[in-house]
Amino acid sequence: MFTPTFFINRSIDSEVKEEITSRLLSHANAFALFLSSNSKLSLIEAADSYANATNLRITLISLDGKVLGESGLSSNEVMKMDNHLSRPEVLQASREAFGVATRYSSTLKEEYIYVALKINAEKASFIRVAQTMDFAKSLISLRQGYQYRIIFLVSTILIIFTFLVDRWVTSPIRNISRVAEKIKMGDWSVRSSVPGNDEIAALARSVNEMAETLGADIAKIIKMSDVRSEFLINVTHELKTPIASISGYIETLLSGALEDKKVNRSFLKRALKNINRLEVLVTDLVDISRIETGELTMNIIQVNIIPIIEELVKDANEGKDKKDLKIYISNNTKNNINVDADPDRIHQVFDNLLSNAIRYTDDGEIEIAINSEAGKVNFSIRDTGIGMDDESIERIFERFYRTVTARSRVKSGTGLGLSIVKHIIEAHGSNIEVDSKIGEGTTFSFELKLNDD
Ligand SMILES: Nc1ncnc2c1ncn2[C@@H]1O[C@H](COP(=O)(O)OP(=O)(O)O)[C@@H](O)[C@H]1O
Ligand SMILES: [Mg+2]
Repeated sequence: MFTPTFFINRSIDSEVKEEITSRLLSHANAFALFLSSNSKLSLIEAADSYANATNLRITLISLDGKVLGESGLSSNEVMKMDNHLSRPEVLQASREAFGVATRYSSTLKEEYIYVALKINAEKASFIRVAQTMDFAKSLISLRQGYQYRIIFLVSTILIIFTFLVDRWVTSPIRNISRVAEKIKMGDWSVRSSVPGNDEIAALARSVNEMAETLGADIAKIIKMSDVRSEFLINVTHELKTPIASISGYIETLLSGALEDKKVNRSFLKRALKNINRLEVLVTDLVDISRIETGELTMNIIQVNIIPIIEELVKDANEGKDKKDLKIYISNNTKNNINVDADPDRIHQVFDNLLSNAIRYTDDGEIEIAINSEAGKVNFSIRDTGIGMDDESIERIFERFYRTVTARSRVKSGTGLGLSIVKHIIEAHGSNIEVDSKIGEGTTFSFELKLNDD
């Protein structure tokens, strides 16, 4: 603001002086004309009357510098004036036709701007027209007044503009960059709060959405890696137990028990049981890792489901370990039911659910109910076993999860079966549901698509 004021002031100064100079020069020329057309007037009278009309000071000077007349002064006073040839404006005019000077007048005790013009008249050789600097100064301050007002107006506009730019642009951007900075430091919970519908608000929203998605992804990744290390701990633990048993039996056999007919067969049987358990565990683990890598794809075809279930029930009835259990099928629809399914995987589902039902039921019954409705077949496996509480129902599909009761009662489980079952059912485009009550029993149910063609 100050720099332009300084330069503009300087230019106003010289502009005003130039303007006054050219005005005075015009007056000098006009006065020369006035002088030649009023030859009856004395030089002093002529100077007086022109000066009165124009409010200027007029001096007439001879070629040798003698003052011949001056407006406002009597001839006596004029006589007393010193030679003016050495005045800068007169000196310049004698060389260059006209001359200009600004100076303090010792005669009139005021600062004047002088313009001297050389003329070729018989009475006088130089006409000098002067005006007080007061006039110039008031003109200058008038112009400066305009200028200050303009500068004030421009500054006000600039300040308002800066304020608005800050409000609309700078501070929202600062807000966004602060948020981005926090996100960089790992704080995914921060959100930028820029209201509106403009580009900056859109940018803020994008940043928020980015934080949202990335934050969720990172949380997922962290959870996944937690799940994975927990999984690894579980796997090693589950593998270690049967291996330890097997090596225990074999060591005992080697250190003499092999010869003891009373125990050798039962030790071998127990070792084999543990090997079977390892086999089941490894098979389940292979399935789990194939699910994980997306390799466990379903080969869905038309499957006649009843024979599969019948065979499983038959096997179950034969191998139910002296339990007092009635295992049966209630088919409330046709005898031939075709569904869309992967036969091996659906067999695995029924096998798992049925062996769970047997495993966690001491006496009573296990029913596999089949109902069809509008293009779908509903299967439910109901038992009258130990059941489970709501908290467990929420978690049984997690890998390795076994209820405390299940753990204490049945040693052989792995806790992997249901997570595989759930995956298979979902890969068939369906869902598995559980209904259970402690001490009363459990029902698992799911649907498959009917395939009638
Ligand atoms: N029919 C059932 N009745 C009671 N609890 C069950 C039943 N089926 C499953 N569960 C509970 O769900 C847990 C997980 O089942 P699953 O994944 O098949 O593992 P596992 O059979 O190896 O224990 C079981 O350990 C048990 O606590
Ligand atoms: Mg199971």
